[in-house]
Amino acid sequence: MKSSEIREKFLKFFESKGHTIVRSSPLVPGNDPTMLLTNSGMVQFKDVFLGLDTRPYKRATTVQRCVRAGGKHNDLENVGYTARHHTFFEMLGNFSFGDYFKRDAIHFAWELLTKVYQLPAEKLTITVYFEDDEAYDIWANEIKVPAERIIRIGDNKGARYASDNFWQMADTGPCGPCTEIFYDHGAEIWGGPPGSPEEDGDRFIEIWNLVFMQFNRDEAGVLTPLPKPSIDTGMGLERLAAVLQGVHSNYEIDLFQNLIKAAARETGAIDLENNSLKVIADHIRAASFMIVDGIIPSSEGHGYVLRRIIRRALRHGYKLGQTRPFFYKLVDDLDIEMGKAYPELVDAKERVKQVLKAEEERFGETLENGMKILEAQLAKSDKVLDGATAFTLYDTYGFPLDLTADICRERGVTLDEEGFNAAMEQQKQTARAAGKFKMAANVEYSGEKTTFVGYEVLEQNSRVVALYAQGSAVQELKAGEAGIVVLDTTPFYAESGGQVGDQGLLKASTGVFQVEDTLKIQAEVFGHHGVLQSGVLKVGDAVDAQVDKVKRARTIRNHSATHLMHKALREVLGGHVQQKGSLVDPDKTRFDFSHNAPLTAEEIARVEQIVNAEILENHPTQAHHMSFDDAVKHGAMALFGEKYGDTVRVLDIGSSKELCGGVHVSRTGDIGLFKIVSEGGVAAGIRRVEAVTGEGALAWVQATNRKLQDAAAALKTGADELPARIAQVQDQVKTLEKEVSSLKSKLASGQGDELAGKAIDVNGIKVLAATMDGADVASLRETMDKLKDKLKTAAIVLASVSEGKVSLIAGVTADSTGKVKAGDLVNFVAKQVGGKGGGRPDMAQAGGTDPAALPQALAGVAGWVGERA
Ligand code: ALA
Repeated sequence: MKSSEIREKFLKFFESKGHTIVRSSPLVPGNDPTMLLTNSGMVQFKDVFLGLDTRPYKRATTVQRCVRAGGKHNDLENVGYTARHHTFFEMLGNFSFGDYFKRDAIHFAWELLTKVYQLPAEKLTITVYFEDDEAYDIWANEIKVPAERIIRIGDNKGARYASDNFWQMADTGPCGPCTEIFYDHGAEIWGGPPGSPEEDGDRFIEIWNLVFMQFNRDEAGVLTPLPKPSIDTGMGLERLAAVLQGVHSNYEIDLFQNLIKAAARETGAIDLENNSLKVIADHIRAASFMIVDGIIPSSEGHGYVLRRIIRRALRHGYKLGQTRPFFYKLVDDLDIEMGKAYPELVDAKERVKQVLKAEEERFGETLENGMKILEAQLAKSDKVLDGATAFTLYDTYGFPLDLTADICRERGVTLDEEGFNAAMEQQKQTARAAGKFKMAANVEYSGEKTTFVGYEVLEQNSRVVALYAQGSAVQELKAGEAGIVVLDTTPFYAESGGQVGDQGLLKASTGVFQVEDTLKIQAEVFGHHGVLQSGVLKVGDAVDAQVDKVKRARTIRNHSATHLMHKALREVLGGHVQQKGSLVDPDKTRFDFSHNAPLTAEEIARVEQIVNAEILENHPTQAHHMSFDDAVKHGAMALFGEKYGDTVRVLDIGSSKELCGGVHVSRTGDIGLFKIVSEGGVAAGIRRVEAVTGEGALAWVQATNRKLQDAAAALKTGADELPARIAQVQDQVKTLEKEVSSLKSKLASGQGDELAGKAIDVNGIKVLAATMDGADVASLRETMDKLKDKLKTAAIVLASVSEGKVSLIAGVTADSTGKVKAGDLVNFVAKQVGGKGGGRPDMAQAGGTDPAALPQALAGVAGWVGERA
């Protein structure tokens, strides 16, 4: 059964059991700082499990793209060494949100495996969490799995609830006991059942994990029951495909075979069993999909995970003998394998190739040099690679530590990680990436969601429902105290979708709170961050919440203009333009998008014209709520990395239709004027433009005009005549430059005549050593040529001093170079004035730093020549 069929059958089966088919979410989890990359199917439903979010369905099924290459679940190091580990894989899952629980989950799984996929029941072995009698009974008494094939697994990882049969998403978040289904690949493969000493062998492979989501683990490690017990399951598509296609290794399935062949084609490898080909085939999937989902290789966070994966693949290419960029060429092969299931890959293909190629070119230069250093060190050292070398490789040659570790492992050498860390520490290059993804002061809140009324009004009477100071809930805030206020209803927009949070005031009868920023503390719970300026503010107080109208108005002009600009950029540059990031505040809109060349002045002008034309047409803005699928049918642009609920808000402004929860102008005319003020590159294949609107655009026009007026005034002309005047001034400058140079030459030849008279005869050679005040090197040379002509047989040194530096030039006529070399002559002088030089036997040049020593040095020239002539 082909992989595509396996996906389809899975979704269809669960659809027939009342599940809604939900699309895979991107690899970058939306709005979740606790998690770097989507590592399983449940990630997009995390808030639903926690009871913070709801969906119109209670049962869902997905085929989710996942990456496990960092964080709690990290398989990077195992790729290439085992038959079943991947960085990127697809997880088939079914989910129940407080609907069915253990019994149905187990029955569904069994029916699908044995009836639909027709796996022989006797090939399946089950594990349950050791305390979970309920799950055990269902397997034993209802499904009738023989007792010898149901294994209880305890807390085998050193702590309470730390077990192969207790699953958790990350260090915090939803978790619960699980039951796992293993497939027995047969006695000819080494390995034993789960829980046995041989369990790490490849014979018994876990194919499906059914998690009974029951708890939320907090930062202190405390488990609290979830509002409703739920189900989260995950089955690796690749593992199941291996079983159904009758092969043992995941790398032998249809999906991988062509990628492995393609990797061999691009690296020239002949042995298709070579592990490096598996690594490359695995990594092209992870790297490509990460780029599809908006990640760019960089030195921190997501970007660093991506960089590690790419560089590891390149190193394996290098090992196979490929030193030129090759990895990016596999994107076309990946498209053939996976483009149908993931149209987003097809859309982003060219950009993915560009980003990969750029990274290959960047790393290619240092890979070879780094490998030489590493090889030299490995040849020297016995079984341990020192931390300092690993650090140099990391710091100077861009070798991620796991890449060096990978090589050490191949050679049976241990890597001194402690030494590496010490070197790292010394350089104070602390883990920016890790820090960035830690949850900031996570305040606890379990009350009502905030009603947001800020689309309609900017002022609202509301009530304080919670207060926080220094991360903890408090009953009141005092004057001067900073804190967070949660209201029952608010007109303040909380930062989201690139639009900054509102500022303003919360006025109570007893005090005034100045809101400096508004940020969500949970989905749909708005935190007003700021300082109590006077009086006190208590939980329960009534407040008049007033948004700063001026700032809000400026922000929404910029936001609406961003949508029009996005549309216009696609029109002018092409459909490959996709939003990659945006920041909209009262001063500007900053917009990052995929495009591989700087925008020309004409393209910028064209975008401005399109946007301003839409503004002048003064279209009304309309927001509609609809299902995601209807939104796509409606033609709305969905942005990568955003987490969309089932009902989405579609914003029509002029000809632009986008999914957006932000606040906008009511008519395009409200934007006023739109002007792009800067354009530049931010990363390979990503451009950034900044633009201004309304009074911001007016201020920009006025400031620019002022500069123009000042420039015109300085040239004593009007702004209209400025270009002609500048051309005129440039012509004048050119003419004057010519004049100066001809005067200099005249001056030099005048001096030449004068200097020629000062030469003295030393054994038949005319010797001259003189200083020419104010002459540059060109005039020294020119004078030198003239003097040689005049003196016929001569050895000459000319010097000039400017800004504390000595310039020297020595010339010897051709008939005398047998006796005196210009290079030696110039160095004779240069040495004495703190310098050094060189050149041909007939002409040499030098510099020096000690003008005071020059007269004496020149005085010695005649004697020096005399010794040689
Ligand atoms: N979330 C569970 C897993 O990833 C199903 O194994």
